[in-house]
Amino acid sequence: MTTTAAVNPTQQRTAEVVADIFGVINERLVRHSVTYPEYQAAKAWLIKVGEAGEWPLLLDVFFEHTIEKLASERRQGSSGCIEGPYYVPGAPELSSPATLPQRPDEPGDVLVFTGTVRDLDGNPLPGSVVDIWQADALGYYSQFHPDPPQWNLRANVTTGADGRFEITTVVPAPYEIPKEGPTGQLIRAAGWHHWRPAHLHMMVRAQGCRTLTSQLFFAGGEYVDEDIASAVKPELTLELAHLGDGRYAAEYDFTLDPA
Ligand SMILES: [Fe+2]
Repeated sequence: MTTTAAVNPTQQRTAEVVADIFGVINERLVRHSVTYPEYQAAKAWLIKVGEAGEWPLLLDVFFEHTIEKLASERRQGSSGCIEGPYYVPGAPELSSPATLPQRPDEPGDVLVFTGTVRDLDGNPLPGSVVDIWQADALGYYSQFHPDPPQWNLRANVTTGADGRFEITTVVPAPYEIPKEGPTGQLIRAAGWHHWRPAHLHMMVRAQGCRTLTSQLFFAGGEYVDEDIASAVKPELTLELAHLGDGRYAAEYDFTLDPA
């Protein structure tokens, strides 16, 4: 690829990274002897991804995990995980112990999720916030599906004086990423599946600390070993314990890096 010399560091970085990525794509087109009909089909599909507003979905499912792993290497605290496309800022603010907003007849098993938020030296961080969001027991996110009411299973939970949180919610279900649009069409065309294993999402914030965006999965859960978004990390997998009264418990401590 060619071109006039870059004149500033941003241009230099852009030129280097983009030329390298385009170079790899061109090499792979050669390796697979891609034909004109395949090229035209890919072009039409890429246009549809844009028209359907699915660029965030496609990028978050297939590429965000790589960017996230690189970012995680630059932190010493808890591992992070991809944010995905279903975060909505501004969820209700609650104090620990908290029960996430839910329907009176919210389906699913009750889950009591507890832990402590600390800094790198192990000091608890009182007043830190666990901004948590999750699918319900049918695999639906509020604000992205007509069934759950607004803010269902979403909240900003402030930790207590000891940095601890206790959040009562329901065990989420695995879910399929949207199948109707061009992203789903690609996945079908390749014979892959659309599933993500069950997980909780969270952003953990505290004054003077870097915000941690993460997800927690459940040991032995369906699709844990074959997440379509390639986001599962062993250290982010929770053991579900029976509380004996029909409820489940899971515990995880967050360690935040300094800002
Ligand atoms: Fe999710």
